[in-house]
Amino acid sequence: MRRTFVAGNWKMHGTLAANEALLTAILAGIADTKTQVALCVPYPYLSQAQSRLAGTAVAWGAQNLSQHAKGAYTGEVSAAMLNDFGCRYVIVGHSERRALYGESDDLVAEKYAAAQAAGLTPILCLGETLNEREACLTEQVVGRQLAAVLARCGAASLAKAVIAYEPVWAIGSGLTATPDQAQAVHAFIRGQVRAMDAAVAEGLIIQYGGSVKAASAAELFAQPDIDGGLVGGASLDADEFLAICKAG
Ligand code: PGA
Repeated sequence: MRRTFVAGNWKMHGTLAANEALLTAILAGIADTKTQVALCVPYPYLSQAQSRLAGTAVAWGAQNLSQHAKGAYTGEVSAAMLNDFGCRYVIVGHSERRALYGESDDLVAEKYAAAQAAGLTPILCLGETLNEREACLTEQVVGRQLAAVLARCGAASLAKAVIAYEPVWAIGSGLTATPDQAQAVHAFIRGQVRAMDAAVAEGLIIQYGGSVKAASAAELFAQPDIDGGLVGGASLDADEFLAICKAG
């Protein structure tokens, strides 16, 4: 039986004051959930997350990192810097990074490798666009995105990673994939991994992301291959986020 893992993705939202209230409310309500929980916050708020969340049941992390260890890369943040702020997780390959910042499958694989080399757990995002789904390319696209990471790091690396299946058309759109649609892709992803390493596939956490709300979470998380969620918009609302965590 895999455990359920829910991660919040704050994206580029927050202020010190708003975060303080959100973190306080989440911590006040998190005690009675068995779900593993993490919050992926903007870089400037890592220090705040560390000081509020250290010693609690809630882990924290970042939403991106550089593939480089250090050097003349103005504006970039390395895995070692994330370690300095106690991060356990870092999102890699989010569809917004792929679409808006041109991150290729190979670059995502490099970032995944850089995260693991520093002892961070990457949350690797995979997902197809609406056009790709309508052209019946979902498995081809998700398989290709996964294959780039497997080629660089091997299936065994997934023992220290999390996968998030996030159909691009469901992110921030209010259009959640149906539990059946999501389960089908999750089963495909696990099958791809199983073909290389059955034990790793069995223990692999595959989160679903894309407009997860309290109302949809329980049915999604009840699917055999859905092990939790990567939650964007709803992670900014403490009551909604706590209800999602408790659905796990
Ligand atoms: P959403 O975002 O829950 O707002 O759709 C999910 C994500 O992008 O990780």
